Amino acid sequence: MKGRFLLIVICVIFIFSCHDGQNKEVFSPKNNLSVEFGLTKNGQPFYIIWKDFETVIDTSYLGFDFENATSFLDNFEIVNSSTKNFNETWQMPWGEQLDVVNNYNELRVELQEKSDLKRKLNIVFKVYNDGVGFRYEFPKQDNFSEAFITEENTQFNLTEDYKTFWIPGDWDIYEHLYSTTKLSEIDASVKRNHPSLGQTYIPENAVNTPVTLVGKNGIHLSFHEAALLDYAGMTLKVDTDKLSFKSNLVGSRNTTYKVKRTLPFHTPWRTIQITENAPDLIQSNLIVNLNEPNKLGDVSWFTPMKYTGVWWEMHLDKSSWDYGMEMVDGVWTDTGKAHGKHGATTENVKRFIDFSAKNNIGGVLVEGWNTGWERWIGFENREGVFDFVTPYPDYNLDEVTAYAKEKGVQIIMHHETSAATETYEKQQDTAYALMQKYGMHAVKSGYVGKILPKGEYHHGQYMVNQYNNAAIKAAKYQVAVNAHEPIKATGLRRTYPNIISREGLRGQEFNAWSSDGGNPPEHLSIVAFTRMLAGPIDYTPGIFNIKFDEFKKENQVNTTLAHQLALYVVLYSPVQMAADLVEHYEANPKPLQFIKDVGVDWSETKVLNGEVGEFVTIARKERTTENWFLGSITDEISREIEVDFSFLDENTTYEAKIYKDGKAAHWDKNPLEIEFETIEITKNSKLKFYLAEGGGLAISMKKN
Ligand code: NOJ
Ligand code: CA
Repeated sequence: MKGRFLLIVICVIFIFSCHDGQNKEVFSPKNNLSVEFGLTKNGQPFYIIWKDFETVIDTSYLGFDFENATSFLDNFEIVNSSTKNFNETWQMPWGEQLDVVNNYNELRVELQEKSDLKRKLNIVFKVYNDGVGFRYEFPKQDNFSEAFITEENTQFNLTEDYKTFWIPGDWDIYEHLYSTTKLSEIDASVKRNHPSLGQTYIPENAVNTPVTLVGKNGIHLSFHEAALLDYAGMTLKVDTDKLSFKSNLVGSRNTTYKVKRTLPFHTPWRTIQITENAPDLIQSNLIVNLNEPNKLGDVSWFTPMKYTGVWWEMHLDKSSWDYGMEMVDGVWTDTGKAHGKHGATTENVKRFIDFSAKNNIGGVLVEGWNTGWERWIGFENREGVFDFVTPYPDYNLDEVTAYAKEKGVQIIMHHETSAATETYEKQQDTAYALMQKYGMHAVKSGYVGKILPKGEYHHGQYMVNQYNNAAIKAAKYQVAVNAHEPIKATGLRRTYPNIISREGLRGQEFNAWSSDGGNPPEHLSIVAFTRMLAGPIDYTPGIFNIKFDEFKKENQVNTTLAHQLALYVVLYSPVQMAADLVEHYEANPKPLQFIKDVGVDWSETKVLNGEVGEFVTIARKERTTENWFLGSITDEISREIEVDFSFLDENTTYEAKIYKDGKAAHWDKNPLEIEFETIEITKNSKLKFYLAEGGGLAISMKKN
């Protein structure tokens, strides 16, 4: 059943077998997309999505399995339905843009079982011009007060064997390399269970979201979810024969159900972004729009910033997080005495503060400042170990914070919880209060290791609540959160703007130590069209010493230097790290100039070109200065791109500082060859640029 015309003809002929004649339909504001909802003759709910005259999602069934209760499967009738149009423009306190248009048509269908219990379920569809979101509402009702969901059965039946960009449906971590295969060739089993990275449990051939699909005629789809609150994360089980996905919720080894909720409640939105080209996926605001408006009110206590920090040096093994671990008779032992390699010393942090202050960088992250690192990775019993208020003896919190204040730099707090959730929960109030006392407004948190209590997974309902509750509590102390090893981003930053950024992908750190060659040159050309659709990314770009042979001969960054600069514009985050060591920046003042100049908060974003997994070019306009910045990256293939600067302001000339790959640049053979050029440009300019293998381009455009 491909075309809509065909469906109508078939339904006219077999009207009773297709549906009960009560099908409901809703179109997007531009009429390019539509959703049809209906019940089979057995009363089973289904939906279909159309784009123009083509079926994008073919008849797909909806339902739930419960513990100790009959499934929501069939035997429903429609008792009520309504449609409405919605159109608003809201403003992001910081973001990729200032104004966000939220325009959709909604269909709400109220279902009731025909059986004795007459249980109720509502399904709400919001149809945008660039996709569809739908969710289930479990209204308050007499015969159903508590739901123990063992599985959600939401189908997405596709009509084509799409080229698919996916990571495995791991229940603990998203830090996987992307695979590019046909939908019919997805095999998540070969990419799973890498215990040293915390990758654990995937019961099915499933993928994580966002998962992005490219069709033969140019259609682009991305599946994800929005507003994930008090529910389990959703992976998508793949049926390679039927070319379909089905929801597969993350579970727990401690319960036989996956989600427990008291009625009334609703699920997160299931989202499908549907566009005609790759750049429009990045421009889409569907996921943030499906979240509730800001509940925190004035959040001006947080300012977007670039930051440096005591971080890369630990990943390079130049220094350590811990203070007193030493190898004694072949065993790592906490000697309680300084071994002299500790990174977070007062003196070292002051060096970063000086460097940030000199280079228009607002913050300094300090990892390894607090006690507990002696019993971090590899320890079973990690509860009660980390302490979020007690510094190591060589780190003077008073002195460092006073010095930072004097220099106009913010210290970014670090809380590595080691996934020991009870310890962190207990200490949150005191830890955030300490931050407030010192005027610190941002914390990077970490959840490395298996979740404690045992049996829980990073992406299950228990942890979804841990992450969200930590952020909500932090807001009370005017603290913004950037979680690593997080739950995926689902646009909650609209409701809780203090959820500023997160990891949730293979970050730059993999280039420092992974034994599989690090992140390949194509990595971020995929990430921009997959993970980045979910929300801001703390990737920690800006490594200048690409090969770092003096630290690690076996590892390197697999991009050119110009590519590292471009990431400040390509990747969005209101906290953007300049991750390399101070000495590597000081030795390279010319490329450092770009990091010094580049913005972190934008009034407009234009995705100028791109193909998933190949290349992408993004221009962003800085809110405060109205200067524009451009970043372009390519995969392992060199290419020429043409940039049309018509996005620039009228009647304005800009001084453009261009940072581009040299003619012989190459991510592996010659990553440091970079050329600098300064020219004048206007909105009439059109220029061609060469991107080397694994290369990039960065341009700052300052108003004259
Ligand atoms: C993993 C994080 O991704 C990394 O950025 C951090 O340095 C370590 N955990 C230590 O917390
Ligand atoms: Ca990590």
